[in-house]
Amino acid sequence: MDCYLLYTVLLLLLGSASLSNARPRATRHLNFMRFVTNATDFPSEEYYDYIIVGGGTAGCPLAATLSQSSRVLLLERGGVPYAIPNLMTHDGFLTTLTDVNSFDSPAQSFVSEEGVPNARGRVLGGSSAINAGFYSRADREFFKNSGVDWDLKSVNQSYEWVERAIVFRPQLMTWQSAIRDALIEVGVHPFNGFTLEHRVGTKIGGTTFDRSGRRHSSVDLLRYARNVNIRVAVYATVERVLLSDDDDSGTNVSAIGVVYRDELGRYHHAMIRERGEVILSAGSLGSPQLMLLSGIGPRSYLSTWGIPVAVDQPDVGGFVYDNPRNGISIVPPVPMENSLIQVVGVTEDGAFLEAASNVIPFASPLHSVFIRAPASPLYVPVTTIMEKILGPVSVGSLRLASTDVRVNPVVRFNYFSDPQDLERCVNGTRKIGEILRSRAMEDFMVREWYGSHRFRFVGVPLPLDQTNDLVMADFCRRTVSTIWHYHGGCVVGKVVSSDLKVIGVDSLRIVDGSTFSISPGTNPQATLMMLGSLYKSHVDLNSGSDM
Ligand SMILES: Cc1cc2nc3c(=O)[nH]c(=O)nc-3n(C[C@H](O)[C@H](O)[C@H](O)COP(=O)(O)OP(=O)(O)OC[C@H]3O[C@@H](n4cnc5c(N)ncnc54)[C@H](O)[C@@H]3O)c2cc1C
Ligand SMILES: *[C@@H]1O[C@H](CO)[C@@H](O)[C@H](O)[C@H]1NC(C)=O
Ligand SMILES: *[C@@H]1O[C@H](CO)[C@@H](O)[C@H](O)[C@H]1NC(C)=O
Ligand SMILES: *[C@@H]1O[C@H](CO)[C@@H](O)[C@H](O)[C@H]1NC(C)=O
Ligand SMILES: *[C@@H]1O[C@H](CO)[C@@H](O)[C@H](O)[C@H]1NC(C)=O
Repeated sequence: MDCYLLYTVLLLLLGSASLSNARPRATRHLNFMRFVTNATDFPSEEYYDYIIVGGGTAGCPLAATLSQSSRVLLLERGGVPYAIPNLMTHDGFLTTLTDVNSFDSPAQSFVSEEGVPNARGRVLGGSSAINAGFYSRADREFFKNSGVDWDLKSVNQSYEWVERAIVFRPQLMTWQSAIRDALIEVGVHPFNGFTLEHRVGTKIGGTTFDRSGRRHSSVDLLRYARNVNIRVAVYATVERVLLSDDDDSGTNVSAIGVVYRDELGRYHHAMIRERGEVILSAGSLGSPQLMLLSGIGPRSYLSTWGIPVAVDQPDVGGFVYDNPRNGISIVPPVPMENSLIQVVGVTEDGAFLEAASNVIPFASPLHSVFIRAPASPLYVPVTTIMEKILGPVSVGSLRLASTDVRVNPVVRFNYFSDPQDLERCVNGTRKIGEILRSRAMEDFMVREWYGSHRFRFVGVPLPLDQTNDLVMADFCRRTVSTIWHYHGGCVVGKVVSSDLKVIGVDSLRIVDGSTFSISPGTNPQATLMMLGSLYKSHVDLNSGSDM
């Protein structure tokens, strides 16, 4: 603890995170694990059993477990999170998310075509290193409907492995306690207490922030790697997967390695040994993008970019989804403590109700209310109540914006294009109305000079007539934002088979959120970390490895 304080003070003395001083700071912390190195230090060609692209939520546990018996290379385009103080704390959540101005900021922003601001991780740990930390296992339906043949015993063991390492029980303060009481009051039953299970009712979920507010993420799982078998290159941007030539002999093309670039712009080739695999864990935006850039995608589309077609695969970049988020923000009569999501209400009809105070940005294309971080002079202490829906059913798609891998692909989520999603949102936002009318919320009203009480809304309040479906649907459409649970792009059954192997390409798999066509219960990170550590049992470990 003392060390950590000293460390924080040192970083404060070093000044603000301008580009020029961010780098040396990052370098000092690169060696937090001896096997993590700047990509510039890697040779121009090397051989491994497994090459994992993307050191994110699924990629880190995957590398850690595969390294137990095989030689593994993990390639991450970003740096090491421990070097960035805001990233490592609960209270720094919003600052991290809004500090997106430098080309290598750990939260890379993107805006979907419908104009909703969104974010993706660009740092070791991936989005688990910038997220809100809420941790909940998938619901039962996910294991039935996700298209993967799950071994539920191994699933449980993998969840437990993750949970022992990085999951904590949160301490509820004023706002989260009030939301818990309000949810119970408006009938989101039963109250399940603290649980990591996904259950209908009101519960206190797990968190990856510890009691001192320090973040834990999938990077922590790398500590379980077998040091002699693993190399991790940071600031390593993979440009494409190398495929064997299609020799027209009737065999499939096969992944043989990847090409990546370091910060000095130098190219490196990482190649796989016989029976090795390239595994993409670059996330819902990164994995489909790399597939397209490698020539695996819809033939005519690739041709428009002049990308040589290796495999005609019409569904790469298709079936992309984002769960819409809607809600309200109020200024409470007295400032609240900071809190990210700790309590959730899961309704029978597929709405998830959550709350936060001070640290959640609310932005939508038509009404931008941006709630500032405490450090900002524009800081207003606000509390929010949010609702996101199950699924969703509305389908979007992803396209390239450039053949430069550093440029975000273009993505469209088509929020509420399916009427079922809209109906769920109407039901969920109505529940927010009930919460606001509950006794538990009375303390959060302000008293007017003439004596009556009311909520002081920031941004768009709920419609007055909440019984009117059309008015509520209009509210959903106008105020839609994201809870960053976007998924899909290389989904199971279309692009990968039930063992996550890319259909029609040998030695290539995808292990990340891009393979999901439904969101795993409330929040995906638990299931992505589980998936990463589970994967060991599915991959035929290379018995010929000399390690
Ligand atoms: C702001 C925010 C808040 C969230 N809050 C929560 C929450 O509270 N609870 C929850 O469960 N979920 C939350 N989520 C969602 C969850 O974090 C993500 O769904 C999950 O982390 C995605 O995991 P992934 O492994 O699919 O991808 P990621 O974790 O994003 O990993 C992809 C990795 O690949 C790297 N990469 C991409 N392209 C390349 C390339 N070409 N070369 C090299 N590396 C590359 C990226 O830098 C990244 O590190 C949140 C997400 C965000 C963004
Ligand atoms: C990585 O190495 C290169 C070359 O030595 C250097 O220019 C760069 O600053 C290093 N990056 C970090 C984050 O240490
Ligand atoms: C997995 O864990 C859940 C929750 O604890 C339990 O209900 C389920 O029976 C377990 N499944 C197996 C196969 O162990
Ligand atoms: C919305 O709520 C109504 C009334 O409770 C219910 O009949 C309907 O099935 C719900 N819609 C969805 C999509 O769950
Ligand atoms: C090619 O890949 C498909 C699907 O991945 C597989 O079913 C088929 O057996 C492979 N063909 C050969 C010749 O290996």
